[in-house]
Amino acid sequence: MSKSIPASDLPPGAVTGVERQAVGNNAGDYFAVSRKCRHLGADLAEGSIDPDGCLVCPWHQAKYDVTTGRMVRGPQGVFAKIPGLGAMFKGLTRVVPLKVGKVTPRGADLEID
Ligand code: FES
Repeated sequence: MSKSIPASDLPPGAVTGVERQAVGNNAGDYFAVSRKCRHLGADLAEGSIDPDGCLVCPWHQAKYDVTTGRMVRGPQGVFAKIPGLGAMFKGLTRVVPLKVGKVTPRGADLEID
């Protein structure tokens, strides 16, 4: 079932949580993905959008391609020093990507599926 939020709640660069999805506005391109990071389960609705348009996890800065749901950079900080860990999580999200939803502008609202 779709949900809707006012478009004014999601200005460019913003990410918010709508039920089980992290919904963002990358310079006018909206996206919705499942909100639980595949690394340690951080809430991606608390994340940010980087200059590449990727969603960055708030805990260890893994990056996700919001069009595919795949991790494109593994966890950073101490985790980045563990050999093969980043590659392992990137591989994992090839098999189990974030679920990619759809955001449709409708008047002053955004419909999220
Ligand atoms: S929980 Fe997201 S990168 Fe660690």
